[in-house]
Amino acid sequence: MAIYTSILMVSIQLLLCASSNSYTILPPGTQRNATSKVSPLDKEAYALFSLHWWSIQYNISNRCNNWPGVECNDNGSITKLSPPKDSTYTFKRGLYIRDIDFSVFSNLVHLDLSQMDLYELPLGLNSLKKLILLNISSNNLQDEIPFSLANFPQLMVFDVSNNSFTGQIPHEIGMLENLVTLDLSFNKFSGSIPLSLSHVTSLNHLRISNNQLDGELPTTILGLSQLKTVDLSRNRFLGIGICVLRARYRRKHKNKAAKHGDLFSIWNYNGKIAFEDIIEATQDFDIRYCIGTGAYGSVYKAKLPSGKTVALKKLHKTESENPSYYKSFCNEVEVLTEIRHRNIIRLYGYCLHNRCMFLVYEYLERGSLFCILADEIEAQELNWSKRVNIIKGTAYALAHMHHHCTPPIVHRDVSSNNILLNSELEVCVSDFGTARLLDPDSSNQTLLVGTYGYVAPELAYTMSVTTKCDVYSFGVVALETMMGHHPGEFISTLTKPSTQQLLVKDVLDPRIPLPKSRKDMQDVVHVVKLALACLSSDPKSRPSMQVVANEFLASKAPIHVSFSDVSMYQLMNQEVYVIDKN
Ligand SMILES: *[C@@H]1O[C@H](CO)[C@@H](O)[C@H](O)[C@H]1NC(C)=O
Ligand SMILES: *[C@@H]1O[C@H](CO)[C@@H](O)[C@H](O)[C@H]1NC(C)=O
Ligand SMILES: *[C@@H]1O[C@H](CO)[C@@H](O)[C@H](O)[C@H]1NC(C)=O
Ligand SMILES: *[C@@H]1O[C@H](CO)[C@@H](O)[C@H](O)[C@H]1NC(C)=O
Ligand SMILES: *[C@@H]1O[C@H](CO)[C@@H](O)[C@H](O)[C@H]1NC(C)=O
Ligand SMILES: *[C@@H]1O[C@H](CO)[C@@H](O)[C@H](O)[C@H]1NC(C)=O
Repeated sequence: MAIYTSILMVSIQLLLCASSNSYTILPPGTQRNATSKVSPLDKEAYALFSLHWWSIQYNISNRCNNWPGVECNDNGSITKLSPPKDSTYTFKRGLYIRDIDFSVFSNLVHLDLSQMDLYELPLGLNSLKKLILLNISSNNLQDEIPFSLANFPQLMVFDVSNNSFTGQIPHEIGMLENLVTLDLSFNKFSGSIPLSLSHVTSLNHLRISNNQLDGELPTTILGLSQLKTVDLSRNRFLGIGICVLRARYRRKHKNKAAKHGDLFSIWNYNGKIAFEDIIEATQDFDIRYCIGTGAYGSVYKAKLPSGKTVALKKLHKTESENPSYYKSFCNEVEVLTEIRHRNIIRLYGYCLHNRCMFLVYEYLERGSLFCILADEIEAQELNWSKRVNIIKGTAYALAHMHHHCTPPIVHRDVSSNNILLNSELEVCVSDFGTARLLDPDSSNQTLLVGTYGYVAPELAYTMSVTTKCDVYSFGVVALETMMGHHPGEFISTLTKPSTQQLLVKDVLDPRIPLPKSRKDMQDVVHVVKLALACLSSDPKSRPSMQVVANEFLASKAPIHVSFSDVSMYQLMNQEVYVIDKN
């Protein structure tokens, strides 16, 4: 309450000053020179301060360094102004805008006045000749757009959506040679779409939906070469009989971005994959080449001119604007460029560009372990020795990540969905979007990620990520592979006598015959035993992946018990030596 009052007082004082003698009082920290001539930079500082978008804790002298939403050029003049989104400062952002003459921000390039409850726009916008982005969406603005677009020759993004603007769409829009995004949706514009719009060849995104436009549907606009999204729905156009038109236009020609080299990409597969090849091989990521949709992005299959087939994981446009998807994408690149292991999927290259983000991997023909186990016919092809090999390969991959990488890498999302198989049914661990480099200096506290049914129980209450979380998930996958389906509730009953009395042979996948050779019997018993140890609810009593991997490598002791007699209890509590055939 006290802070609130003091802020109010400061505001009132400034307003009084502004109305009597404009520059007698400057915000704390601004320099007034002896001749009391106020420099343009001080005028900016004063206007900035008067917006009241930042709490008074922000030191005006540092406005170019650490004020959220403010950016400056080398001379200290403000170029970007947008309300601090994460501010806890709840003052109404539009309250003081009318009193500010924006012409003082003469170097402004990016101006965001969206969602400020504005009934009118501030003075001086007309003189902001350098504007590239102007967003005045989601206010209460009425009447015709009160400035001439001819004043903003550099404009690339213009968003006035979600207001109550009336009148015609200004035909000066045709003069904006650099315009990429135009959003006039959710207003009351009437008349027809100006023909001049067809001159704006740079246009990528056009939204005019939810207005009162009529006349012929301007088909010439749809011919604009760069146009990717168009939404003209909910208007009163004549022609096609329907009012809703939503279209996505794909460019048929090679992507210009690649030619002009503004891609950030590294190709480490023979250096031979080119951006154009990928676009061509998938016909610009046409849905026909999509083979699945993962936790984020879609996966495509592309046959390159060399004959090589690769898998591509592509973030959708909306996903690439979502910071957490973008982060997991970059994370995957970071992790996979560090690792080389025969049981870890290979990243051949990647493209991180705001228009198009994708990763290029080796293509694994047989898909995921989950899908194979779910398919009656394919599951039968996975005989016991193959299943044991899949578990071994997975254990080696995880042991490598946990014990041979510095810092250790925790996958965090080990599941049968992320274990892929090639044509020889050899295994590769994939999907490192949530993997985490375990930094011993940073806190282990983290968000809960992973796949339901595979997440270690302690994560529900400690949120502390360790390599032992992967060990648990590995235990689930190992048991799943032996049982032929996800163990589900079975895991929580492992400590119950009724479960412990079960014979191992009765929990194995009934779709394939019980193991017959001594080696298979021994291996199966061994895998189930290790899986049970990994599923211990206490992370400390789970073996490390290194121990698990070593167990697989070590030669096994002879068998002393009949396979058909081995119980779950024995595997949880005793050393077991299987002695004969069932
Ligand atoms: C603001 O920052 C300037 C320069 O860093 C410093 O000299 C001044 O003391 C600061 N003012 C306040 C109130 O912290
Ligand atoms: C910075 O100031 C110098 C000298 O006043 C001027 O020549 C230059 O154009 C200015 N640069 C910018 C980016 O405004
Ligand atoms: C304008 O601002 C609104 C609300 O802040 C935002 O949702 C929208 O994406 C912005 N428009 C553009 C084109 O960036
Ligand atoms: C439209 O603006 C209002 C505030 O004026 C806001 O509450 C609402 O979320 C906005 N709608 C959209 C679709 O942006
Ligand atoms: C399992 O499949 C592999 C490869 O098809 C084969 O070599 C092996 O003999 C099979 N094992 C059994 C026990 O049938
Ligand atoms: C994070 O976990 C590791 C492994 O359990 C532990 O060695 C380290 O001390 C932990 N770091 C912190 C900051 O808690």
